[in-house]
Amino acid sequence: MREITLTVNGERRKAMVKDNELLLDVLRDKLYVKSVKAACWRGECGLCTVLMNDRLVKSCLVLAVEADGAEILTAEGLVKDGEPSPIQKAFIEKGALQCGFCTPAFVISSHKLLTMNPNPSDEEIRSFLSGLICRCGTYNQIIEAIRGAQKAYASR
Ligand code: FES
Ligand code: FES
Repeated sequence: MREITLTVNGERRKAMVKDNELLLDVLRDKLYVKSVKAACWRGECGLCTVLMNDRLVKSCLVLAVEADGAEILTAEGLVKDGEPSPIQKAFIEKGALQCGFCTPAFVISSHKLLTMNPNPSDEEIRSFLSGLICRCGTYNQIIEAIRGAQKAYASR
């Protein structure tokens, strides 16, 4: 076991981890960041996606020890003073979720897309989000949510 330090949603956190422990499992089971979901543990569903040092990663494909010192941003971190961010509000307004299991991964990924490109085409959105699976099939509503939030990102 060794100690790692992560900055998770702006807060410095420490955890004792094994060499083979996944960032995904440390976030969920040791740091209780429960928006990070998992369905496959092998890089296929995308539900464990987080921003690590401002880069989207599937946290089931990252060892916790590799993430030592990293900044991690998850859907929880987009809430400011109890107020959901524009992309989170847009997901709610456009009904871009059914069971909600995939939603945090789509939210953090859509946030990243809009910070890089506030006016993506439908094709660019589909391509950017293609590594994420929504078993409820809310893909069209997710595109609408991104369209709904893009003004807020353009004015940043
Ligand atoms: S749990 Fe990481 S991609 Fe599925
Ligand atoms: S809303 Fe159910 S998996 Fe996406």
